[in-house]
Formats: sequence, structure tokens, C-alpha cells
Amino acid sequence: MKSDRLLEDIKSRLDIIEVISDYVELKKSGQNYKANCPFHSEKSPSFMVSPSKQIFHCFGCGAGGDIFGFVMKYENLTFQETIKMFAKKAGIKLSEYRFEADASEKKEKLYAIQKDALNVFVENLKKSKTAGSYLAGRGITGEMIEAFSLGYADKEWKSIYEHLRAKGFDEPLIVQSGLVFSGEKGLYDMFRNRLIFPIFNVQGDAVAFGGRAIDDSMPKYLNSSETPLFKKGETLYALNAAKDEIRKKDYVMVAEGYLDVIMCHQHGFKNVIAPLGTALTAGHLHKLGRFTKKVLLVFDGDAAGISAAKRSIALLYEHGFKSKVLLLPEGDDPDSFLRKNGSKAFQGRLSKSRTMVDFILGLKGDKTDNVRAAVGIVSSTKDLILREELFKELSEKSGIRESVLRGESRGYGKDLRHSGIAPAAKAALLPYNEEILLLSAIVAFPDRAPYILDNLDVEGIHNPVIKKIFQEIKPSADKVSMTAMLGVLGEEERALVTRLSLNPGFDVEHVDKNIMDCLRKIASYELEEKIKEAKKQGDLRRLSGLLAEKQKIIKSV
Ligand code: UTP
Ligand code: MN
Repeated sequence: MKSDRLLEDIKSRLDIIEVISDYVELKKSGQNYKANCPFHSEKSPSFMVSPSKQIFHCFGCGAGGDIFGFVMKYENLTFQETIKMFAKKAGIKLSEYRFEADASEKKEKLYAIQKDALNVFVENLKKSKTAGSYLAGRGITGEMIEAFSLGYADKEWKSIYEHLRAKGFDEPLIVQSGLVFSGEKGLYDMFRNRLIFPIFNVQGDAVAFGGRAIDDSMPKYLNSSETPLFKKGETLYALNAAKDEIRKKDYVMVAEGYLDVIMCHQHGFKNVIAPLGTALTAGHLHKLGRFTKKVLLVFDGDAAGISAAKRSIALLYEHGFKSKVLLLPEGDDPDSFLRKNGSKAFQGRLSKSRTMVDFILGLKGDKTDNVRAAVGIVSSTKDLILREELFKELSEKSGIRESVLRGESRGYGKDLRHSGIAPAAKAALLPYNEEILLLSAIVAFPDRAPYILDNLDVEGIHNPVIKKIFQEIKPSADKVSMTAMLGVLGEEERALVTRLSLNPGFDVEHVDKNIMDCLRKIASYELEEKIKEAKKQGDLRRLSGLLAEKQKIIKSV
């Protein structure tokens, strides 16, 4: 178990309403607060926050937890990272809790290495005439150089390696940092004579670097290799710099390259990010979805740009995003367009960006094929309201009746059954209501946990989610608390716990009587089955034995 004392101390200083209000606009509703759920798309609020219980729960998608769970999910952090962040916010010293193990210690060191290297690159740039004039030649201002912490890797083979050695980092760790590679004659710096674009995570820590050649060496761009801190398929360039503006505007512009992003920011378009030389991935969207569900793809209007847009759109709708497309004149990326034409012209283009339906219907080729492609995309979205809107738009613009489009859509095999109800909510609908009630009793009255778990055959529990919860908490039943439970449980189990916390589903006044009834009932599940069988077969001897056994159970609990 994690250090519960630490978690409780943090919670005692931070109120869930204040914490969540930093991310979501909460409205008071009775004793609780509600909002549109930040974890799924909805138009009327089913996301509840309880100040008395210090938990949140969404009755739509089932997400639930305490402040740790919320921020973990929203910011996509690990539990350890979340605790660290909160401890800092609450003014609590982690060292006093003898907490944090090896894995995160190593990560810390890797962060320190990136930070050290970043400082070296930034200082190098200040000293390098070639790099400085390259940037000037590309029209990048000093303000942007600073804002994006641009740097320069010098021409030496071992600058960074030796710098890190001198700082006391050991060799295996330096190799793991992704900043050096192992060649025939030993270790060499990954980046030499390159302009450096540091890549930050959402929290603003440097996690990797991109380097652009400033002469004609190949490849033109190079990235750090992947590390425990850096996965290319989950990292978006400039998300940390753009996230506030993305939230404010409620959409994000996705460009293709580092310089496109920087030039957009330089021209006042600050909700712009880019993947790192790859197509968008599900991992990217997972990161992005916390800030907005609307994406404007800004690509070069050449064939490659169009096919990249098509691929990205399919992925976006599958993940519940809405997307528009802006194709720039062939041969232009946002960087070159802005430098040639300025921000007004760019703004003009933006206001004329095409909806997904317009974009797909406007593609070259057979009209029916395009309609079909659009139906495929619409069918793949799990957001039912969005799907409705899209069918309407597609019907209006293609001139094909909605009923026909919907008929076509059935062929795509993704109907309502795949969306909506969350697994935890489903589990709660299963029979064996007593199991739910017992869990509910523990959630409301944690001090009853030892009694309940001592008198229960946990392995015989039918509902798999509840069984898992009981298995997890049984070893320390005497220390059960909301914090302890949420700390050890997985997402699905947490969802059930927070739901029951807000909606106990039993009469709290008679909790102990309820507990007894449930325990008896559960103990007799199997007996009842056998009794039924014996009755059916008319086996009176067996029946009386079973009934006697039943009496024993009733007395024993
Ligand atoms: P582009 O080739 O379109 O370059 O690559 P660019 O962004 O317009 O760069 P400039 O204007 O020539 O400097 C787009 C993105 O693809 C990745 C980089 O992330 C780049 O920003 N890329 C490109 C690579 O990873 N490796 C390459 O060799 C080229
Ligand atoms: Mn370019």
C-alpha cells in the first residue's frame, strides 16, 4: 500500500472543489457540485463532485476517484507524479514520509540529465554565430528563441557526453537518456552542429530534443531516441506552451513541423502544436483530449498533405474528436505561408477552413466513394450527439437522405452497443444485489469492513469487480478508508466505489441490519440453488438436510 498518511495529509490541506475548479467549471447542485464531464463528451452534466466525501464521479462514463484520481486522469500523470505535484502544492515535504522508490528515482535522474543538456544547448546558441544567423535567416525572433528554449549542439563528438560525466551521471544512465548513441569506438553525442528544439512534457519538463541540420547533413531532422520519459507516439511538440490557449479557444491547430509551430506562435496563433515527424496516433489524442476535442489540421495542400489529413481525420473521429481541415496552397506550410503572407492572410484562411464533411466530399474522384468514406468516418464516432449532427450535415451536403446514410452506416458494424455504458456501470447492473450492498456499506462505513470481510467468502463473490475490490482490501480490512481504497484500486473498481459513495442504494439508518441480511443471503446463494433443485426433484431427505444447514447459517451471522 502507498503511504496513506501522506495521502490523508495532502487531502486535509487541499479541497476537491478547489482542485477540480482549476480544470472544470463546477456549478452547485444541492449538496454537491456538477459539471459537464471532462472525460467524455456530453451536453448535460453527469459529472458530480462531493465536498463532504471529497470524491468525484461521472454517472455518464463511470469515471471516479478523489483528487489524486482526477488529476492523474486529467493530466495523464502516474500516481507518484500526482502525489509529488500535490505535495508541492500543499507544502508537504515528501522526504518526511520515506516514500518514492527506485523506478521514480531513476526517472528523476533522467529528468535531471535532460535539464542539464538543455542548459548546455541554450548557452551554446548564445555563443554560436552560425546558429544565430541561421535562425535570423528563418525569421525567428529572440522572443521565440527564449519562449521555446531553442538551443544549439556544437560540432564536437562528445560535448554532451563529457559534460554529463563531469556532472557525475553514470554511463548506463547517460546512454538511457537518449542523448548519446553507441558507435564503433564508443559513445557519441546524438546531436552535432544542429539547431536544437527542446521537447517538453505537459508539465514543462524537458524530455527529449529535436535537432535540425544547419548545413546540408542528413537527415534534416533528428530526435532523441525513446526513453522512459519520451515516447514519440505520445508526445506533441509545444503542447505545454499551447495548452492554455487550446483550452481557451477550445480547439487545437495541428501542424507538421517544429518551425510551423514556432512561426504560428510568433504570429499570435498560440493554440498550435505538432507531432514529431509522425502521423497523429491514438497516444497523441489521449494527451490532447484533456484540453479539447476539436482539432484543426493545418497542412500543405499537396497530395501528401491531403492523404495525411484523411488518415488523421479517421483516427480523430474514432476517438470522439471533431475535426476541420485547412489546406494551404500547394508547397506552403504554415511557416512559409506566414512569412510570405502574414497573419491577416493566415487568419483569412483559417476562417475558411473546411468541415470534415466538406473536406471529404470535396476530394477528387467518385462522389459515391466520397460519401461512403464520410459515412465510414461518421459511423466510427462513439459520440452519439456528434454522430447525429454529422449525418444531418452529410445528408444536406450530399443530397442523400439521412435514412439511406444510416442504412449504409449499419454496414460498418459499430452500433450503439459499443458505446455508452461503462464497464463498472454494467457490473453494477448484474444480479447479486447483496454484493453491491455490502460494498456500498463498506464505502459508507469503512469501520464495518473487518466484520463484513471476516464473514464473507470473498472467493465466492460473483461480481468480478466487487470480488477484486474485496480481495484488494481484505488484507488490511481494519485500515480501510476512502483514500486507502482509491489508492489501491484500478479504474473500474474506483468507478464503482465512487458511484456507490454518492448513491449508497441502501438505508443508511439500518446499516447493520442490512449487512446481516446481505451476509445471510450471500451465504445461502448456493444452498438456495440446491434447495430449489431438491424441491424440483422431490427429494425430501436432501431438502430437510439443506434446510437445517440454512438455519445454521442464519444463526451464525
Ligand atoms: P518537413 O520536411 O516538412 O520540414 O518535416 P519542415 O518542418 O518544413 O522544416 P523546415 O522548414 O525545412 O526546417 C516536418 C517535420 O517532420 C519531421 C520533423 O519533426 C519536421 O518538423 N522530420 C522531417 C523528421 O523527423 N525527419 C526528417 O528528416 C524530416
Ligand atoms: Mn518548413
